[in-house]
Amino acid sequence: MITKPTIDRIMEATDIVEVIGEFVQLKKRGANYVGLSPFANERTPSFTVSPAKGIFKDFSTGKGGSAVTFLMELEKFTYPEALKWLAKKYGIEIEETQMSPEDKAEDNRRESLMIVSGYAAKFFHESLLDTDEGQSIGLSYFRERGFTNETIKKFELGYSPDQWEAFSSSAIRNGYQEEFLVESGLSVKRDNGTLYDRYRGRVMFPIHSFTGRVIAFGGRTLKTDKAVPKYVNSPESEIYHKSNILYGLYFAKKSIRDEDNCYLVEGYADVLSVSQAGIENVVASSGTSLTVEQIKLISRFTKNITILYDGDAAGIKASLRGLDMILEQGLNVKVVSFPDGHDPDSYVRKVGTAAFKKHIEENRKDFILYKTTLLLKDAAGDPIKRADVIREVVESIAKIPDSIKASVFIKECSHIMQIDERALLSELNKMRMAKAKKDSQQQANQASRNQPQYDDVAPPDELMYMEEMQGAPADPKTAIIDAQEKEIVRLLLLYGNKMINWDGIANTYIGPFMMLELNDVEFDIAACKQFVEIYRQEMDNGVLPDEQHFIHYPDKAIVDLTVNLLATKYILSENWYEMHKILVSDEQANMKATILGAIFHLKMHKVGKILENLRNELQKPNSDADQDILLNQYMHLKKVEKSISDYLGSVILK
Ligand code: GTP
Ligand code: MN
Repeated sequence: MITKPTIDRIMEATDIVEVIGEFVQLKKRGANYVGLSPFANERTPSFTVSPAKGIFKDFSTGKGGSAVTFLMELEKFTYPEALKWLAKKYGIEIEETQMSPEDKAEDNRRESLMIVSGYAAKFFHESLLDTDEGQSIGLSYFRERGFTNETIKKFELGYSPDQWEAFSSSAIRNGYQEEFLVESGLSVKRDNGTLYDRYRGRVMFPIHSFTGRVIAFGGRTLKTDKAVPKYVNSPESEIYHKSNILYGLYFAKKSIRDEDNCYLVEGYADVLSVSQAGIENVVASSGTSLTVEQIKLISRFTKNITILYDGDAAGIKASLRGLDMILEQGLNVKVVSFPDGHDPDSYVRKVGTAAFKKHIEENRKDFILYKTTLLLKDAAGDPIKRADVIREVVESIAKIPDSIKASVFIKECSHIMQIDERALLSELNKMRMAKAKKDSQQQANQASRNQPQYDDVAPPDELMYMEEMQGAPADPKTAIIDAQEKEIVRLLLLYGNKMINWDGIANTYIGPFMMLELNDVEFDIAACKQFVEIYRQEMDNGVLPDEQHFIHYPDKAIVDLTVNLLATKYILSENWYEMHKILVSDEQANMKATILGAIFHLKMHKVGKILENLRNELQKPNSDADQDILLNQYMHLKKVEKSISDYLGSVILK
């Protein structure tokens, strides 16, 4: 966990206008900045940033929060990733708590590895652009393949000199430690202890992490000699786990979100060419078969994957089974293949962007239907093979979590395979039952081991953050209580740390006063309940938490609640200051009535709800003793209700 002082330092340094300004064009309007929502397609700007409060509010989607929330929403960073991004931007060193000395050492090692990798990327990039060898060999190769300067710069392509020690000795000269040069795989140690370069005379493709740091390399040989491996890739290290990296994702993610689709290709060169052609939502799994982690990375941005295959039928068939994994994650999979001998890279260069896009549009097939047709063609005339095909296709369909979607596929496949839909459905149900049984067994095993289960992508402390706030209640009676609970939270936020100076009550703060009065009230809305608990906890620590405490709270539900209460359109509208002043001065003039009114109206409703429950209970057949107890409770609460209503009438509403 990142320490509180570090988080505070990051928050202090963070200029929300500057951060959001990197992604959204903002214009100053009054005290605020406005721009077009990055979360929706809109023509008139409804996206508002308030530098004074350090919050943004997007009125077209309802999203809002701090700079951290913004990075989480837009870049799909986890909470620690967002903090680390800001820390890097503002040059703040990160301290983490609850880290054993070993953890700390590991963290330092990871950082050192990234620094070494960053240095290497710069070294290779400069040797490509600024040395004679780089230009005449590396750069001319990239030119020949049609990569523009812009592409070369954007993807930080490079060249490793054809010498044994060019990189290693430069790195040592510049003070990089041998340990990290070796662990990152950039250098290899000889028996005599000296270092030599892993990459020699290769064009270099740096691999970027989700947050844009270089963590590994692929180096392509320029020789045609079959004995030389075409690609040399970085070994697995503490910063590079092949299975959860997608080449190009850092550059593609914005476009993946905008287009709501991710193109998946096989090679580095495919990513570069397709992206250069203006189709930027493209990533590669770089030679390995797709993993669940990689699919989860994509599904942070879109539920639609389109696989662009090299035109090799055998390769396609081999990969079909692997794709069930994508279906299992609830994603929609389409596939496009290219004419024999072509991969996306060669095809886009041959036909140009427009024809390439047209080819994709015209040949995009749903994965399951594609698979069905392809396998059926193979099984033509062989009834046993045909039965296998049917089973395999239904197996794929059974992986789709959305049962409505699954039944649509059953219908279409029954048509293609010319087999009774009911037969397919019963096969599907059999597989589903088997799967459910397996899942519940697994769950039972896990429960007995008593291991908490976390999502692979989100580490434990993010789970809380991901939780969505409860939806709006449908029942109008509940709606009243909801509004009242939120009103309490709003008053705590705005006035909790203001002094009370009413007749009879003075020298106390509004927050503690309200908390004392609300001691016996149970909140229904999860976020409000949590808010009040946090408030009480902070009070116990001797602090009165202010707006900023809740705006930067590491729990999305709390941030959402806070921002929604603070950033109403009313408050953030153009002349918000004027309006705000009016609003506040009204409320302040009647502060006593406002505060007591909020508290006692809430209490009144809570009591009313309990009374209603008791009335229902009383109407059921009860034993005499039970009936007596219920009746006593009822009478007592009736009295409470009456005294609250008297109080409301006499003190507040007069
Ligand atoms: P070009 O031939 O330059 O177009 O390369 P490419 O990027 O299109 O690669 P290709 O389609 O041949 O292979 C797809 C991906 O598989 C590559 O981008 C690499 O990630 C990986 N790959 C290919 N050959 C090798 C190899 O010899 N070793 C390793 N480790 N990976 C390889
Ligand atoms: Mn290729």
